[in-house]
Amino acid sequence: MKKYLIGTSWKMNKTLGEALDYCAILAKGGPLPDRLQPFVIPPFTAVREVTRALQRAGLNCLTGVQNMHFADRGAFTGEISPLMVKDTGATLVEMGHSERREFFGETNETVRLKAAAALSHGLTPLICIGDSLQEKCWGVSKETVIRQMKAALAGLRPEQVAGVIIAYEPIWAIGEQGVPATPEEAQAIHRQLYHALAESYGAEIADRVPLLYGGSVNHDNALTLLALDHVDGLFVGRAAWEGESYRRLLDTIAATL
Ligand code: PGA
Repeated sequence: MKKYLIGTSWKMNKTLGEALDYCAILAKGGPLPDRLQPFVIPPFTAVREVTRALQRAGLNCLTGVQNMHFADRGAFTGEISPLMVKDTGATLVEMGHSERREFFGETNETVRLKAAAALSHGLTPLICIGDSLQEKCWGVSKETVIRQMKAALAGLRPEQVAGVIIAYEPIWAIGEQGVPATPEEAQAIHRQLYHALAESYGAEIADRVPLLYGGSVNHDNALTLLALDHVDGLFVGRAAWEGESYRRLLDTIAATL
């Protein structure tokens, strides 16, 4: 049975002290059921300490990084290599988030290179894909996200594809101005993503790829979204930036398992 992946990226928030306070709050609630796999993606400056703090607390919470270069080393000022990510103890590598695509030049091609690099180093790519409001209005959401997903996975062997996580995050749903996808909207895209994976790699591989939904997930809509077909987890921003709030979300979901 697939685990539910419920995680958060803190984006560019939290000093080290704030990060460790958050971990202490998460840990206070005690262990979570095995079917729930939490994950936290702090800024680089806190990844190693957060990873250790969560391990010490015995929380079985994965950690990740918000970006990674695809080369092992080189003259790439300001970048972090897969080897350096491994040094932190984090296992997830987020890539393709719409904020990185919009503000930092992330493209389908860099996501593809990063996914392959992460896998070759034993790291798990968490590949974010999403349609813009304009694409939604044009009625090409499905085409957009399938194109992004296929581009990210191009050249991988089926066994490798089984090792990635996909997060559908409609751009129009993310952040303060975002409107969460309705269950119908999320359902339609998740079904299409699953079928696209099954068509390319077979149902057995498609069944192993967790498909997360992200974009204005909160305490009110989390359970409904999680109950949809082919929604294997949630990728949460603001609603999980306070330790108490994330812990409460995890406990609410745990109570339904
Ligand atoms: P949000 O962010 O939950 O604050 O909308 C989601 C995301 O960017 O992953």
